[in-house]
Amino acid sequence: MSDGNHNEIFKFTEACKVGVPVIDAEHEHLFEFMNNVIASFYDENRDNISLEEYIEVLFDYGKHHFQHEEEYMKKINDPELEHQLKAHKKFVEKISAINLHDLGDPEKDALTIHLIEFCLKWLYDHILYSDIIIGKMRHLADTAVEVTDETGTHLVYCPFEDKYRTGDPVRDEEYKVIFELLNKTYTMLKNNHSEDDYDAEKAVLDDLAVHCIYHYANQEKALHDARYPDYDAHVRAHCAFLDRLDERDDAEGMPDQRKFLVELLDYLYTWITYHITHMDKHADEFLQQYEEDKKNGKKKFVF
Ligand SMILES: [Fe+2]
Ligand SMILES: [Fe+2]
Repeated sequence: MSDGNHNEIFKFTEACKVGVPVIDAEHEHLFEFMNNVIASFYDENRDNISLEEYIEVLFDYGKHHFQHEEEYMKKINDPELEHQLKAHKKFVEKISAINLHDLGDPEKDALTIHLIEFCLKWLYDHILYSDIIIGKMRHLADTAVEVTDETGTHLVYCPFEDKYRTGDPVRDEEYKVIFELLNKTYTMLKNNHSEDDYDAEKAVLDDLAVHCIYHYANQEKALHDARYPDYDAHVRAHCAFLDRLDERDDAEGMPDQRKFLVELLDYLYTWITYHITHMDKHADEFLQQYEEDKKNGKKKFVF
């Protein structure tokens, strides 16, 4: 919206699918309601009553959706429930502080635009950051395999398996480093008996952040140049991962730093494996096809 394209419709794409039909259907409805609000706000013959009704419907539906999602997570004993409860609560508190009933008043247009932009960003980011891994949490403690190399036999907690390969050797090497750094941090945590000094682990996570910023920037540039249709969602997904990784700095203030870091690593591991096998696979196939077509002189990708 900030680029002035007021008629833009925000699409619920494959990238936003959680894989739980009820949740996906509700997310799709939220996108639909969001688009109704935007269309109604920018309508030349704006009807303020309809706009206010659309806004009300969006938030009522949103609150019900949060409730359903939380119930589902409780039922499956999802370890991310606490995170989700906090995020949903924060969102509802922010919206509840605004009087939604008179946003049709043209004098309040600046506030309505702010509200729409905030909701769009929040909805996209929240789905790609948190909802996407509902029911999929993988624990590094459960995924260890014994590996023998020149240094001896040791446990690797998140091996870089063939299913994560994209076929692009440079990109695969970059992905591999992410797995190695996660494994290194987890191994250090397992061997750390000091109970309160986790600076060395956090330093490895700093390296991971630097590596991911570099890796994501490379991929985003290639996707942008190739005019990848799902570019926006892909970039937002990367930002979501980096935001969560930034939480490593909060570990110090936690009553149980070790538990906090283990949960953070489990999240990062779950998220990255899901992202590679779903979003990156698509993106990299698209890029390979784009390069192939470029080589053959085909001009296919005009949007
Ligand atoms: Fe959620
Ligand atoms: Fe959700």
